[in-house]
Amino acid sequence: MSATDPLVIVCAGGGGVGKTTTSAALALALARAGRSTLIVTIDPARRLAGAMGVSITDEVTPVALADTGDRLSALMPDPRRSLHTFAEQLFEHEPVAKARLLANKLYIGLADAAAGIHELVAMNLVARAAERGSFDVVVIDTAPSRQAVDFVTLPGRLAALLGGRTVSWLGGLAERANGGASGGGGLVGWGAGHVESLLAKVTGPVLVRDTGDLFRDLAVVRERFVALTQHAAKLLLGPRAAYVLVTAPTAAGRDDVQFLHKRLEKLGPGARAVVMNRADTVAAPYARALRGQRAVTPALAAAMAVLDDERAVRAAAADGLSAELRARLPGVPLVRLPFIESTAPERVVASLSVELEPHLHTLLPAVASAKRP
Ligand SMILES: Nc1ncnc2c1ncn2[C@@H]1O[C@H](COP(=O)(O)OP(=O)(O)OP(=O)(O)O)[C@@H](O)[C@H]1O
Ligand SMILES: [Mg+2]
Repeated sequence: MSATDPLVIVCAGGGGVGKTTTSAALALALARAGRSTLIVTIDPARRLAGAMGVSITDEVTPVALADTGDRLSALMPDPRRSLHTFAEQLFEHEPVAKARLLANKLYIGLADAAAGIHELVAMNLVARAAERGSFDVVVIDTAPSRQAVDFVTLPGRLAALLGGRTVSWLGGLAERANGGASGGGGLVGWGAGHVESLLAKVTGPVLVRDTGDLFRDLAVVRERFVALTQHAAKLLLGPRAAYVLVTAPTAAGRDDVQFLHKRLEKLGPGARAVVMNRADTVAAPYARALRGQRAVTPALAAAMAVLDDERAVRAAAADGLSAELRARLPGVPLVRLPFIESTAPERVVASLSVELEPHLHTLLPAVASAKRP
C-alpha cells in the first residue's frame, strides 16, 4: 500500500435496498466535489450501466456526465467472464499457460464452485486500477447478500494459500502424474503418492493430471499473483477503506444492518455509516400544486388525505427504525435519503447525489475526514 492508494468505500446491504443506486450517487457526488472517482459494481446493474453509457467490461470506462469533468469512471466487470479474466490475471504474458488453464477441467470446476471468484477478479481489477494511480476514491457496490462483506477477506486468504507451501506441494503432483519426477521421499513424497492414488481412484487419471498442471502453473505465477491479491486485501482492509451499510426503513433492513455491522466488526473495519434509503417521502410536485387549488373535488381531497396519511405512517416508521439503529449501532452515523419520484434510474441517481453532498465527509474513510473535513 502506498500514500497514493485511493480511499475505498464499500457499499453493502440486503437485496433491493438501493446499494447500486446509492453507490452510483455517491460516486457522482464525489466526482462533482472534485475527487477523481471510480465506481465499481460487482453485481452489474445493466439498466443503470446503459443509462450512464457504461459498458460491462473489464476495462475502466470514463463516464460522461455533466459537472463531473473527466473525474468519474466506471468498472463493471461481467460475472460471466470471470473465469477468463482470472486466467488473464494469472497469465498475462503466457498465452500457452493461459490456454492450458482455460482447458483445465479442474480449474473450471473449482472456479465455478468457488463462491467469490467474480469478487476476487473484480478486486484484482481494482488493485490494478489503483496501481495505475489516478483515483482519489473507489466506490464499490457489492452483491445483495448478508455474506457480501465476507469477500473482503478473500484476497488475503488466497494470498496466504498461494504464498504458502500448498501450491508447491500440489505442484509436485504434476511431475508425478506426468511421469516427470520419480517422486520425493519422506513425508511429502508419501503424502503426494497417497493423494494421487486417492484422486486417481475417485476421478481418473485425466483429473489427476489436470490437478497437477493447475498447481504447477499456479506455482510459476504465484509471486506475481500474491502481490496483486495482497494489494487488493490491503485496499479493502486498510485504514483507507470504509464500509457503508445501505438499508431500507423496514424491520428486515434494520436486522440486516445489525448483522452486517457485527460481521464487519469481526472482520476488522466495522461500519463507517448507515444510509437509510427511501426513508423520507416528499410530496410529489403535482400533490403540492393540487393542495394550493380551491376547486378540489371531495374525491380528490379524500385521495390526497390518504396519501398524506401514508406519508406520515412511513415517516413515523423511518423515525422509529432510525432511533433503533442509533441505539443498536452507537457511534455509527445514520444518513437518510428520500424516496425519489421517478422510474428512470439515472434520475434517481442524480437526485440522490445532490442529497448526499452534505454527507460526503461522513461517508469517506475516517483517514480522509481527519485530513480534509
Ligand atoms: N431513493 C430512491 N427513490 C426511488 N427509487 C429508488 C431509490 N433508490 C433506489 N431506487 C430504485 O429502486 C430500484 C432498485 O435499486 P438498486 O438496483 O440500487 O438496488 P440494489 O440494492 O442495488 O438491488 P440488488 O440487491 O438487486 O443489487 C432501482 O430501480 C432504483 O432506481
Ligand atoms: Mg445492486
